[in-house]
Amino acid sequence: MVDQAEQLRNVIKLNPPPKPHARVITVTSGKGGVGKSNTSINLACQFRKLGKRVIILDADFGLANIEIMFGTVPKHNLCDLIYQGKNITDIITWGPMDIGFISGGSGIAGLSNLSSEYLNYIVRNLAKLDAIADIIIIDTGAGISDAVLDFLVASGEILVVATPEPTSITDSYSLLKALNRHPRFSREDSKIMVIANKVSDLTEGDTMYNKLETVANRYLKLPVSFLGSVPRDRHLEEAVMQQKPVSMQSPNAKSSVAYERIAYILMDKEYNKSLVKRGMAAFFSHIVAGNKKMG
Ligand SMILES: Nc1ncnc2c1ncn2[C@@H]1O[C@H](COP(=O)(O)OP(=O)(O)O)[C@@H](O)[C@H]1O
Ligand SMILES: [Mg+2]
Repeated sequence: MVDQAEQLRNVIKLNPPPKPHARVITVTSGKGGVGKSNTSINLACQFRKLGKRVIILDADFGLANIEIMFGTVPKHNLCDLIYQGKNITDIITWGPMDIGFISGGSGIAGLSNLSSEYLNYIVRNLAKLDAIADIIIIDTGAGISDAVLDFLVASGEILVVATPEPTSITDSYSLLKALNRHPRFSREDSKIMVIANKVSDLTEGDTMYNKLETVANRYLKLPVSFLGSVPRDRHLEEAVMQQKPVSMQSPNAKSSVAYERIAYILMDKEYNKSLVKRGMAAFFSHIVAGNKKMG
């Protein structure tokens, strides 16, 4: 009997994703409430300003964060693609600034039980995202669950959001440790980047990053890089209340300017020298194949 992971590899071979591939950036954190969803949506706005086509996948299955911040309720989610035979284009909600949004639902958890016919369908559909987006941002749930780790090891770019509180630094380190231990994690294939959020000044952000980098290097031999700090900003809190990204509501607010800078760094050629864009189809096949192997 051909095992399912093998079947999946064949499916992918038969359906090579269209080129060029989208960049897949996965936003995560050791604990909740540190600003992942705000980071995702504001970077999306800033990438749009730079002319990039952006889709956000909300993979925080418990809480539908992004849709609240978008002020729109998506009609469908990833489950409908899988179980209702919807097309990928049917489940994208186009929000402000033409940012595409896909609600994950609880769609990914069920992937390990699907037949290769289904997988073929999903991979073909997800591959279409590579043609309609330059950048796909995945907003994950917090914490070190297997589902989140599966997403992270499949990502070329892992963006860890942390705050200067000692518990946040410890939790970020625990996340990196769990990631480093994951059987499918490869430090050559994934770039780990850090944002310090809710800082009171730049020094606080630098200090936080230095602490995290020191332990990641010393105990895990894991290279990380710093994207910069986002200040604690009253305008951001107000924007959240208005269900708007601060980058749109108050483009000159200090947090908006910080997101702009970070988006700029992420687009920098030199910064991206070693980056391998594998695209969305490869991203998902990595997750599905992994789930199958685990049984
Ligand atoms: N830079 C910031 N300045 C002020 N408040 C912030 C900032 N970033 C996040 N917050 C606050 O923290 C809350 C949680 O942010 P959110 O992006 O939803 O976190 P997560 O997705 O990690 O749970 C937001 O509602 C907002 O009020
Ligand atoms: Mg969130």
